[in-house]
Amino acid sequence: MEQYLNTAIKEVITKFPNVGKILEEYEIGCVPCSVGSCLLKDVVEIHDLPEEEEQVLMARIAGEIYPGREIKVHRVERNGKNRSKELKYSPPMKRLVDEHALIKRWVALIPRVLEALDMKSAEDTYLILEGVNFIRSYADRFHHAKEEDILFKYFDENSELLKTMLEDHVKGRGHAKATSEALDKKDREGIVEHLTAYRELLTEHIKKEDEILYPWMDRSLSVTQVGELFSRFIEADEATDRKGIARCESFVLGVEKHFGKEVTK
Ligand SMILES: [Fe+2]
Ligand SMILES: [Fe+2]
Repeated sequence: MEQYLNTAIKEVITKFPNVGKILEEYEIGCVPCSVGSCLLKDVVEIHDLPEEEEQVLMARIAGEIYPGREIKVHRVERNGKNRSKELKYSPPMKRLVDEHALIKRWVALIPRVLEALDMKSAEDTYLILEGVNFIRSYADRFHHAKEEDILFKYFDENSELLKTMLEDHVKGRGHAKATSEALDKKDREGIVEHLTAYRELLTEHIKKEDEILYPWMDRSLSVTQVGELFSRFIEADEATDRKGIARCESFVLGVEKHFGKEVTK
């Protein structure tokens, strides 16, 4: 059974069409989903059925795959911790919240970086260059692109809430551009102005998304849409330059180390 838990759901359904019918009974719409790259275990985790229901579902799936054999299926491991005081996100939304965590780590470092910025130091100016690269590659192309190209398409993009979010993204790009131009001109003040503005903008933006937008979206999306979203995020991440993402992660870690300790907000 372990083997099939780690197989893409479309493949499982193609081989065992009745599995698709069973999932539909639980309102798990993997058959109409055009992506289907989620693993069977992801599908079970995403839909987060009560323990007893999950046991029945898994026993029925096992019965289709191994007819006539008694198969023990353990409860699928959950990645998320359901602490009562914490907001509970669906797996795709949790993925975005986790990406926010890295963005917040860089944003929290900005005041220290700016305070210590010596325009005559090649190391310092390189750090700003890498900081702008982080904003463009990670915050924008990796994270905001998933919101704009995938997530927001499930909602009315002319709604006030989404218009505000999209405007924030545009403003963020403006600050990255202005910081880069100030760096070319060796304009310390310009760098300070735009990176500070970026910090303020993103701090508020992330707070709004984590506390309002994503929970609202989670409440509005159907279980089928949540599954589809998760699958699309996986595909988008797989198509991303992983080396570039790793570079962004080690950039944040490097700056934290440089300043002696982790700065988190
Ligand atoms: Fe956003
Ligand atoms: Fe975001």
